[in-house]
Amino acid sequence: MAAWLTAGGCATTAEHGTETAPLIIAHRGASGERPEHTLMAYELAIKQGADYIEPDLVPTKDGHLVVRHENNIVETTDIAQHPEFAARRTTKTIDGIKETGWFTEDFTLAELKTLRAVERLPLMRPANTKYNGQAEIPTIEEVIALAKRASAETGRVIGIYPETKHPTYFASLGLPVEPRLLAAIEAAGWNRADAPVFIQSFEVNNLKALAKQTKVRLIQLIKPATAPADGSYAAYRDMIAPAALRDIADYAYGIGPELTLVLDPDNKPTTLITDAHAAGLRVHPWTFRAESAFLNTAYRTGTNPMEHGRLLEEMQYFLGLGVDGFFTDYPYIGAQARASFRTPAK
Ligand code: G3P
Ligand code: CA
Repeated sequence: MAAWLTAGGCATTAEHGTETAPLIIAHRGASGERPEHTLMAYELAIKQGADYIEPDLVPTKDGHLVVRHENNIVETTDIAQHPEFAARRTTKTIDGIKETGWFTEDFTLAELKTLRAVERLPLMRPANTKYNGQAEIPTIEEVIALAKRASAETGRVIGIYPETKHPTYFASLGLPVEPRLLAAIEAAGWNRADAPVFIQSFEVNNLKALAKQTKVRLIQLIKPATAPADGSYAAYRDMIAPAALRDIADYAYGIGPELTLVLDPDNKPTTLITDAHAAGLRVHPWTFRAESAFLNTAYRTGTNPMEHGRLLEEMQYFLGLGVDGFFTDYPYIGAQARASFRTPAK
């Protein structure tokens, strides 16, 4: 068994397909403790009990899919320290937002493989900076291989939960994300409804198209503000109305709402879980993070935004509301929350 799997271990094993247990989805890996979207972040997440590892996906110039939250890699890699790429620094507008940096679609996979990942939030998560420079940018194929290897070695089913980033933008460049993702899923033998795979998107039209091409479960992401970049809705908020949720259920298995759409900033639960379940949708909210800056005000401690607050209790509260899974930067706390929720204190 691989060394990284021998310590710690999972709290439980979620069923797939039927999903009797709320799923622990490692958001960009165990990204609270390792630089995000690296194999080391995914390995730690699996060791801590995550059921699914989440790769956000963007394309390379030569059509590969690499795992990054943004196609602008200035904040999450050491590219600024690579003089050979200095001339490729540029400014682009992506989904209406102007960005300056280096963009994955301007590099081949071989070039991106010469870079190393760095911690995105060095001030918030300084302990993670000791891992700077140690990990490559993974491909989707490497993440799938890791999930399969970990499944074989642990006896648990470890799945992948890929997100298609900026689908309309990348299609406009002739680098659509979806065909390459489907090819990778097909090659893995996972192109079926009960495969340990969810595909997520903040856009609507690419999910509707995917629903005609694959049985893999699809998750519609929903934010509290702005609108999908494909123009499908005037505002994300329009998507949480019961009638809109019924429309989403025509092509998606579930929704991935931002946390405040489930528990509002005044610490009052909304009707979203009830409404989504009534429409036949599962609910996987995001993102549970331990630092007070990210917690609902009811779960913060002290005045330092970096200080870890009462994330375990926040997760337990959401589990009590009936979530079917949840994204977290801290899968080990997710595993504690799920275990405690299943076995209430006497
Ligand atoms: O995909 C769920 C959640 O990850 C969406 O937010 O911005 O972290 O990709 P983001
Ligand atoms: Ca994501």
